[in-house]
Amino acid sequence: MFELLLFAGGREWVCSQAEGEVLEIAVGTGRNLPHYRDGVRLTGVELSPAMLAIARARARDLGRDVDFRVGDAQALEFPSERFDSVVATLALCTIPDERAAVAEVRRVLRPGGRFLLLEHVCSPMLPIRLAERLLEPLMLRFKGDHLLREPVDHLHAEGFVVERLERSKLGIVERVAARKPADAAAAGGSRGSTSPVP
Ligand SMILES: C[S@@+](CC[C@H](N)C(=O)[O-])C[C@H]1O[C@@H](n2cnc3c(N)ncnc32)[C@H](O)[C@@H]1O
Repeated sequence: MFELLLFAGGREWVCSQAEGEVLEIAVGTGRNLPHYRDGVRLTGVELSPAMLAIARARARDLGRDVDFRVGDAQALEFPSERFDSVVATLALCTIPDERAAVAEVRRVLRPGGRFLLLEHVCSPMLPIRLAERLLEPLMLRFKGDHLLREPVDHLHAEGFVVERLERSKLGIVERVAARKPADAAAAGGSRGSTSPVP
C-alpha cells in the first residue's frame, strides 16, 4: 500500500535514466529489475543473502542477466570509476552509515556518471516532520528505517552536482539525479570542500 501511495512511478523514473554499466546498491528483492532499459549491464549489491535469493529468482523469471553480489554498500568491493550509473531506491533510509555509502558511490562512479535515487526523507513541512519524528523510533525498531534523513546533504558534501530534485507527497518523497563532476578530483567530496545545500 505504501509503495503505491508514496512511490508510484518512482522506480520507473530512476531506472529509465540508468545507462551503461549500472550498479544498484541495496538491491533487496530486485523490485527495480523490470524497470531497467534493455542494454544496461546491471550489478546488484545487497547485504542480505535471503533478499538476494529472491532477487535472483526474479531476474531469472524476467530473463535478465544480473551480476548479484552479497556485499556492504558502505564498503564496496569494486574498483574506482567502474560504473556509469548507480541506483539506490529506499536504500539510504536503511543503510546504517548513509554518508559512507554516498562516498562509496562517488568512488565507484566514473567522472560524469550519475547517481539516481528514490528515497523517503525528512519533510520540510513542520506537521509532517513532527509525525515522522514520532514514528521514527517505531520504524527504526521494527524496520531499521530512518524517517528523518536528508540524503541530498550528503550528495552536496560529497561533491555531486544535483541536476534534478523532485519532492512530492507532502515533501516525504524525493527523486534525485546527481552527477559526479567530470573533473571529480577538483570537485571535492569526502577529501575536499563541501557545497551549500540550496
Ligand atoms: C527498504 S529495503 C529496499 C530494497 C530495494 N532497494 C527496493 O527498492 O525495494 C532496504 C534494503 O537495504 C539493504 N541494506 C541495508 N543495509 C545495507 C548495506 N550496508 N549494504 C547493502 N544493503 C543494505 C537491506 O538488506 C534491504 O534489502
